[in-house]
This record gives sequence, structure tokens and C-alpha cells, in this order.
Amino acid sequence: MSDEESSDVVRRERFSGGPARGFLSSLDSDARIFRADLQVDRAHVVMLAEQGIVEESEAAEILAALDDVEQAGHADLPDGEDVHAAIETAVIDRVGPVGGKMHTARSRNDEVATCLRYRLRADLLALAESVVAFREVLAEAAESHAETVMPGYTHLQPAQPTTVGHYLLSYESALARDTERLLDAFDRTNRSPLGAAAFAGTPFDVDRERVAALLGFDGVVENSTDAVSARDFLTETTAAAATLATHLSGVAEDLILFANKGYVDLSDDYASTSSIMPQKKNPDTLELVRASAGDASAGMNGLLTTLKGLPRAYNRDLQRAHDHAFDAVDAVREATEVAAGAVATADWNADALEAAAGEGFSTATGVADLLAMQGIPFRTAHEIVAEAGESGGDLAAIEAAVADVLGGDLSEHVDPDAVAAALDPARSVASRDSQGGPAPDAVAAALDDVAAAVADAEAAVERRREALANAEDRLAAEVSTHV
Ligand code: ARG
Repeated sequence: MSDEESSDVVRRERFSGGPARGFLSSLDSDARIFRADLQVDRAHVVMLAEQGIVEESEAAEILAALDDVEQAGHADLPDGEDVHAAIETAVIDRVGPVGGKMHTARSRNDEVATCLRYRLRADLLALAESVVAFREVLAEAAESHAETVMPGYTHLQPAQPTTVGHYLLSYESALARDTERLLDAFDRTNRSPLGAAAFAGTPFDVDRERVAALLGFDGVVENSTDAVSARDFLTETTAAAATLATHLSGVAEDLILFANKGYVDLSDDYASTSSIMPQKKNPDTLELVRASAGDASAGMNGLLTTLKGLPRAYNRDLQRAHDHAFDAVDAVREATEVAAGAVATADWNADALEAAAGEGFSTATGVADLLAMQGIPFRTAHEIVAEAGESGGDLAAIEAAVADVLGGDLSEHVDPDAVAAALDPARSVASRDSQGGPAPDAVAAALDDVAAAVADAEAAVERRREALANAEDRLAAEVSTHV
């Protein structure tokens, strides 16, 4: 291919590039949307032929050239300002001026917006899938440890005993909302801007709905100016990823702390060691999971700062917007998979957890609840138990505090055996059987719900993935009728 042939058809001589040539070009990072652009080109050309805007024979030549360009790959594209220009150039290099008909009734503005949405759909489903897989891991570990009592913290101070199962399911709940957010983002991403042209529509008799259907989109982005301007599908995707990343960072932080206390032993696969201290086993992978929240929030910040105050309609700033979203999604997906692996392979040290569960008089609230259940005002019960806590928080201390505050024997107010039970961490947990609480019965009920929700989420991801795969098949079949 001579230089002459492969000069960017969009720039031509007048805008040959100059010193800012590389700065202007997005060709390298556009590798991510290379395949998307080919699909968008195919659907557009099929529609142009169906509408009689290009001749069947012209469409056939262009579609065959696109196959050839795909075979050659992104790395083989001629130089260009971006993947759209380079593919068009490559088509024209192959079939001559008729290749220039491919860009009839469209602009790179609606083209790039469509490519980004096309590509991001797959990324969103992949991320959602890894979140659902993590939820499954959490549910399995929760089931194995539904009755493993552990200390629960608020302000990182011993608060109330809970179970490993309930603790793990708390993150499953958060990730269930993350799944919803990602699928919501998918559903709004899944609209086609194509046919908006530069921003102001086109006089050609295009069929926007047809192109959308060929590409598996669930309809079009209606207003043509909005269609090329809108990047909120990137914002909400990145926000969903960033929110997920805060959850991952929380899991990571907890496990790092639990490993420090000897409550959990990470698999060697998810730990590292020190180059100097031979005894060390460090939770490095989880520290990197924790750090992925930084990538996600950097993406959020980069994206919002880039988009803020942009005038309608297309502005080249947009070329620097989408990588923030793609980078965030990549970083968070990897972190999700690593976090899931770390949890799946972690050993929970039930003895250490149970021994620690009652530390710091963590059963105090349960004792106060018990007194309040006898009709003693909760505030008075709180005072009694606080006083008992000052002198050790055992049965004797409670007897003394009751005598002091209420007068008389403990047994006049409450069954001492029940107090002894309330002081036992496992029985304390078992007593908290309110809806969504940590008692093993409540956790068993939650596990049933989680199993159903995980199956639903898997199906929801799969349905969308199948719709995309079917559209790919339909487009390929449609293309073959034209070539
Ligand atoms: N590479 C550009 C982007 O990613 C494509 C659109 C260019 N359009 C234009 N009018 N300069 O946003």
C-alpha cells in the first residue's frame, strides 16, 4: 500500500496533521472499538442498501472490504486520525472511490458514540458476571459459616457478636445492588445513536430503528443532538463501577484486619511475602483490591471533569472521555475477580473467632435487651449493664449493678439463667432472629433468598448476552445476503 493510497481520507492534504498529528489521533486506544466499528459499518451499509441509498453492488464491495479489513486486524490499519477514518481509508484503499459511499448519511460523531455503546455493553456484562460470581462465592462461604460466631465491630471497636455467614451476606447484599446498577447502566447504554449524523440529522431516508436492531440495540437515542453529545452512559457505568469498588475495598480492608488478628488465613495464592523478612505472609492482593477504588474514582473524576461544561454538540474533548470509563471498568473487574478468589480460598479460624466474639463485653447489648424485655425501660437497662461493664461484665457484676440501680436480687427481675445465656456469644447471636438478623435461622432464610437472587441475576446477564449474540448472528446473516 503506497503512502498516497493510505493517507487519511478524512484529513486529506489540507489537514495533513502537522506537529499535533499524534496528539489528535486516537487510533491506538481505538483498538478497543475496532471490532465495534466494523459491526457499525456493516449494519449501516446493510441499511443504506435496503433503503436504496447505495446500490446493492456497491454495498457488496464495501462489505467484502470490511471483512478483509477485519482479517488484517487493527494493527494493519493505515494511519488515521482515529479508527473510523482509518477503516474508511482501508476500505477505499481496497475498493476505490466507491468505498467512500460507506460514510453516506452519517458522521464520525454518531459513529463513535455508537461504537462506544456497542463495546461497553460487553464490558458491562462481563463486569456484572464477575460480580454475580463473587456473590456466589460469598453465599457459599456464608453457608459454610452460618453458625461460626465472630466479633462484630462498629468504629472498629468490639460491638456485638455476629456470624461469619451474616457478615459475608452483608457484602452479598451490597453486590446485589451493584449488579442492578450495572444492568441498569447496560439498559441505558443499549440504545443506538446512529443516524443522528453530525448532530442535526440527515436528509437521506435512513432507517435508524433498523440499524439499531441489526446491532442488537434496544431502540435509538431519539434526539439527534443528544445522541452525539450524550456520554452519561459512561458516567453511570463508571459510577456503578466506582460504587462496586468501594464495596470491594471494604471487603479487602476487613480481610486484611481479620488476617492481622488471626481470624482468617488467606491462601498463599492470594498472599505475598517480604524480600527481607522470611516469616512474612502479606495480604498484598487484597491491598491492591483496596487500591482499585482509586482507579475507579480517578475514572469518575476524569470523566466528569472532561464532560463538565461541554457545549452542545460534539467536541473533541469527548475523545478523551471514554477511556476513563473503560479503564475503571477493567480495573474493577480484575479487582472483583481477585477479591472473589481470595474469599473463596480463605480459611476462617473458627476457634479464634469464637474466642474473640465475646471480647470487650460485646454481649452487653443483649443483656440490656433481656432486661428491657422484662419491662425495665431500655435506658435504665443500658445504665445497669454499663455499670456492670465497669466491673467485668460477668454475671456477678450484673447482679451487683441490678442491686445498685433497681434494688433486690437479680432473680426478682429476671431469670439468672437467661442472663447467663445472654452473656454467651453464640446464644446472643441466636437470640437476634429479627428479619435480616444474624441468628442462624434468619441467615438460613437469607441464604435461600440469595440463591434465588443469584440465579435471577445470572439469567438477567445471560438474557442480555444472548440478545447481543443473536444480533451478531443476524447481522452476519444479513451481510452474507449482500456480499
Ligand atoms: N475519534 C473521535 C472520538 O473518539 C471520533 C469523532 C471525531 N469527530 C469529529 N468531528 N472530529 O471522539
